[in-house]
Amino acid sequence: IVVNLFQGVTEPGGATGAVDKALDGAIRDLLANGDIRGDLNKTAMLYPRGAIPARRVIVVGLGPEEKFDPDAVRQAAAAATRKARDAGAHSLASIVHGGGRGGLSLAEAAQAVVEGTILGLYRYDAPGVIPWKGAERQVDSLTLVEFDTAKLAEVEAGAKVGLAVAESTCLARDLANQPANVATPTRLAETAQGIAAEYAMACQVFDREQMAEQKMGALLSVAQGAVEPPKFIVLEHNPDGSEHAPFVLVGKGITFDTGGISLKPVKQMERMRGDMSGAAAVLGAMQAIGAMGLPKRVVALVPATENMPSGAATRPGDIITAMNGVTIEIISTDAEGRLILADALAYALRYEPAAVVDVATLTGAIEVALGHYMTGVYASDDWLWEAIQVAGETAGEPTWRMPLRPMYDRQITTPFADVKNGGGRPGGSVTAARFLAKFVGQHAWAHLDIAGTNWWERDLPYPKKPYYVRGNTGVGVRTLVGVLRGWEGG
Ligand code: BES
Ligand code: MN
Ligand code: ZN
Repeated sequence: IVVNLFQGVTEPGGATGAVDKALDGAIRDLLANGDIRGDLNKTAMLYPRGAIPARRVIVVGLGPEEKFDPDAVRQAAAAATRKARDAGAHSLASIVHGGGRGGLSLAEAAQAVVEGTILGLYRYDAPGVIPWKGAERQVDSLTLVEFDTAKLAEVEAGAKVGLAVAESTCLARDLANQPANVATPTRLAETAQGIAAEYAMACQVFDREQMAEQKMGALLSVAQGAVEPPKFIVLEHNPDGSEHAPFVLVGKGITFDTGGISLKPVKQMERMRGDMSGAAAVLGAMQAIGAMGLPKRVVALVPATENMPSGAATRPGDIITAMNGVTIEIISTDAEGRLILADALAYALRYEPAAVVDVATLTGAIEVALGHYMTGVYASDDWLWEAIQVAGETAGEPTWRMPLRPMYDRQITTPFADVKNGGGRPGGSVTAARFLAKFVGQHAWAHLDIAGTNWWERDLPYPKKPYYVRGNTGVGVRTLVGVLRGWEGG
């Protein structure tokens, strides 16, 4: 059983107090001796020796009450669950951290406990590819404990959302962690079709020929160097058959980015299998809203291809034409993300969308600007920015607004075409966003550059979160779901 403590508390109350009494003051002893202080994610384990019908008691710290938020719950739940797993526990019962004293709604708190538990237990194990060692230690059941039966319905409702969101985040992590010879564009399309079949969504997948019919010259210019078949995926969720303007999500689906003819250096190129993290986040969000039965119209678009060098590949200096007729001079074939997004954004306008949000590992420059802690957001509208900011904060995926000013356009201006795809080093993530802006017209649009936040390592300078494991973070899924749940259209 998992109970909790805020930092600085000397007399445990609520469920923690009740367990302490049953254990004859054992938790107070830990406090009195300074063994625990309620620091966030710090845990202590007690053995009740029959005093209560649980084999172990874990006390987890929630940190200072002033700094308490849903992400503290998520983190504490993950820390406690890992402690339990490492001790060999298979089933857990946890109180709903923050549902009482923390001031969160019970639904919100229950959601965060479930998310933290599942995300904290996540491991990337690709069956048949990477046999994971030590799989015998895993927690397989979580029970949420609430004393007041009148509140159970709210706990259950929150837990259901948490389950949908967490499992979808794990789907996104799996897709991005898988090697590029497994997570191909075809596999992304099959994943979308699987989601469509499970949750009664509509799904259309264009192959190379159909892309050509749609005049998707920018996407095709990236795909032309690849032998692996590219796919353009359209997934539509509309449970009530609404004819209102939809919310359109767009995810960058470069299943491997070699840089093309503008070849990347050897160092850490294997990480570029994660260059479809935006696509993974969008597919994850679609699975989550499907599982939740969100009664709103949402469309996901995923342009998916490898970016490879070959005799058929695009060259720097080539001029191509995107779906909307805009001509592009290719400066670097490594600035491929903005090209495939250009056609996807132009395609999105067919829906006369209420809003468009794209998610992409677009630039190394955003990693330089913001590091690994915050996602850079470019937004054409304040309401959309605010929705993303709030959802990101609640999700534990903090965001920072970046400038989207036309003055940067000088850097992507060329005498040979309407625009060029490279704007040089200064403000590299801004000029990438300005490039995208040429394809979204006047619609409410936001671009999330997740190149700094999609991947996690254990050591500095990465955030320390007990629900992260090495590899893809699943960033974007929870933020997008939060935005869509709060959105009043559709
Ligand atoms: N996929 C990369 C961006 C990236 C870098 C993602 C590091 C994750 C980690 C993108 O396609 C790219 O190569 N961008 C170039 C753009 C430049 C050539 C204008 C970059 O950032 O260097
Ligand atoms: Mn690239
Ligand atoms: Zn890329």
